[in-house]
Amino acid sequence: MAGHTDCVPQWQVVGHVNELKNRQCRRLYTASGIDLALFCVKQEQFYITGAACPHARGPLDQGDIEDIGGDPHVVCPLHFYTFDLQTGQSSSGLKVDTFVTDVRDNQLYVLHSEAVSVKPLKKSPRSD
Ligand code: FES
Repeated sequence: MAGHTDCVPQWQVVGHVNELKNRQCRRLYTASGIDLALFCVKQEQFYITGAACPHARGPLDQGDIEDIGGDPHVVCPLHFYTFDLQTGQSSSGLKVDTFVTDVRDNQLYVLHSEAVSVKPLKKSPRSD
């Protein structure tokens, strides 16, 4: 049976920690168009969630980060629901997807089924 590896999460390189840690929030792009939000809470403490708020698709990558009960949360800029960056849970009962990150050799990785990019991906014309 042919493998359907597209759906299997693998370690994907996000970028160099020194470049990523200078912004608290930024958007990450995927080929499928399901974008992610990258948060750098402390110097090298990274969290990645879905970019679209599960309430009404507000841009979580444009939200503020707040410490609630000792845990970092993103505040959605549209209706101010808060989401725990580790669990994705909100007191509203909604939950945003979260993705495992790791830092190795000063590179940030995310466990995801698609390659991710800090820049919007352009559809390249087929060359074959
Ligand atoms: S869209 Fe995020 S709280 Fe409404």
